[in-house]
Amino acid sequence: MSTPAEPTVPAICIGIVGCGNIFERYVRGIARFPGLRIVHVADVDPERAKLGAETAQAAAPAGTTVRHGSLADLLADPAAVIVVNITPPTVHAHVTEAALRAGKHVYVEKPITTDLGIARAQLELAAASGLTVGGAPDTFLGSAGQTARQVVDAGTIGDPVGATAFVTHSRAETWHPDPTFLFKPGGGPVLDLGPYYVTQLVNCLGPVAEVYGTARVGAPVRAVTAPGRLVDSIDVEVETHANAVLTFASGVLASMVLSFDIWDHNLPYLEIYGTRGTLSIPDPNAYDGDVKVRLHGAEDWTVVPPVLPVQGPADSFEHQMLRGPGVADLAAALHGAPHRATGGLALHVLEVLDAIGTSGKARTPAAMTTTCARPAAAAAVAAD
Ligand SMILES: NC(=O)c1ccc[n+]([C@@H]2O[C@H](COP(=O)([O-])OP(=O)(O)OC[C@H]3O[C@@H](n4cnc5c(N)ncnc54)[C@H](O)[C@@H]3O)[C@@H](O)[C@H]2O)c1
Repeated sequence: MSTPAEPTVPAICIGIVGCGNIFERYVRGIARFPGLRIVHVADVDPERAKLGAETAQAAAPAGTTVRHGSLADLLADPAAVIVVNITPPTVHAHVTEAALRAGKHVYVEKPITTDLGIARAQLELAAASGLTVGGAPDTFLGSAGQTARQVVDAGTIGDPVGATAFVTHSRAETWHPDPTFLFKPGGGPVLDLGPYYVTQLVNCLGPVAEVYGTARVGAPVRAVTAPGRLVDSIDVEVETHANAVLTFASGVLASMVLSFDIWDHNLPYLEIYGTRGTLSIPDPNAYDGDVKVRLHGAEDWTVVPPVLPVQGPADSFEHQMLRGPGVADLAAALHGAPHRATGGLALHVLEVLDAIGTSGKARTPAAMTTTCARPAAAAAVAAD
């Protein structure tokens, strides 16, 4: 596995809140960045916090001690400069607010919160406090997202006209021991997986101006079959199948389907259609994968060489689920580098996703009140 080539980060200490399913992948992912140190972990469940500290300690460089305890314990630890908030989506706002009020910079998993107004207020609080908020997803920082971005910027496919994005079922019931939050308000395909796709589209195409969507509940009850499951079934309280049209500020029109009811299909992940050709983008919930271009009249697709080193094989769950580039991106930004996985980007993406449901209920398109600049593209590296 390659060690991410950038950003290069001076040592900075991190506290992680939430020692659940994704925690170990953050620990192992962050350990790849020599300048990042996990020094404190917290969970509402003391046993999870204790086990989490053992996991983080095992991955820590010699001389690092990983403490554990409650959220309050972690926030009182002056060593923790960045709080990584990987609690369930409905808890994000509570932990982020507490961390900001304790003077910590925050990196928060997606969605930034489940309430647009709260997210906006928290970013205002951060700005007023001289603190920085970063937000997931960070997968667009990987080789595939940056290669796709370079194809668009180089004009290879001409002027982008349209795009399609298909969010299909992650089958969380088959692998997550307690996927209840995915089927309750704050979950669903729109807020759970939608951030990866919309963030990738904004990375390539810029901000969204207007959204019109519609959504429904599919199966009202979901059976959980994951090994070691904590629940056997879940009553569904969130829409699980949605359609949307996104009008970008540039004029590009994107059509999206976001569904936990599509188990099998022949759909692409993301495609961008330009005046000269089509750009095919692999799973935006992964860092790597083949980015392909097919110019009008070409007989086949051409795989574009990745502009950054890969994190690992694109079909390797173990490599592609390792988190951490967004935390490193925030740490580098604190030392003056361009911040790319920003809270502002996460807020804009949340507004887009939120509007899919609200515009459908109102039966009228929703004009976006937030915007954001496209994140700076990563410097390309010479292909081998
Ligand atoms: N599981 C994945 O594969 C995955 C992948 C990418 C992103 N994410 C995101 O990561 C976040 C966490 O997901 P997960 O699957 O690990 O969830 P999880 O439910 O498995 O774990 C969440 C943890 O947070 C703890 N917690 C809850 N409230 C808390 C509080 N107030 N203070 C401290 N700890 C608290 C819980 O006890 C639990 O240990 C979510 O935002 C999710 O969208 C998850």
